[in-house]
Amino acid sequence: MNSSVFVYKSLYINLAIDPNFMEYLVYVSTAKKLMSDDELLDLLQTARIKNAKYNVTGMLLYSEGTFIQALEGEKEDLYTIYKAIELDFRHRNIILMITRKC
Ligand SMILES: Cc1cc2nc3c(=O)[nH]c(=O)nc-3n(C[C@H](O)[C@H](O)[C@H](O)COP(=O)(O)O)c2cc1C
Repeated sequence: MNSSVFVYKSLYINLAIDPNFMEYLVYVSTAKKLMSDDELLDLLQTARIKNAKYNVTGMLLYSEGTFIQALEGEKEDLYTIYKAIELDFRHRNIILMITRKC
């Protein structure tokens, strides 16, 4: 079966951040087209740099055209990242499943 799953960072709370301000979310989405490994790596590189800048951590899973992503961080930073993700042309049908304070 041609499936690939990759994890770019596991969920760890960054203790430098006051946990009172931490929130997390989980969404699922559908890739506009099946993603190649190079396309996934490209996405991953951008995500790593920007997430680090905003102190957001998380996990992205991809398999056969479906994404599942968990992200956590301070509310403002988390939603800055998430709003950019929502606008991304590479996926659609983005369904926010869970959003909560840590
Ligand atoms: C499934 C999926 C997951 C993504 N995850 C992240 C992420 O965790 N962090 C991130 O900065 N960008 C992520 N991106 C890329 C963003 O959509 C966006 O391209 C990136 O944040 C750059 O946005 P900007 O050009 O407005 O700064 C993801 C894109 C897709 C399609």
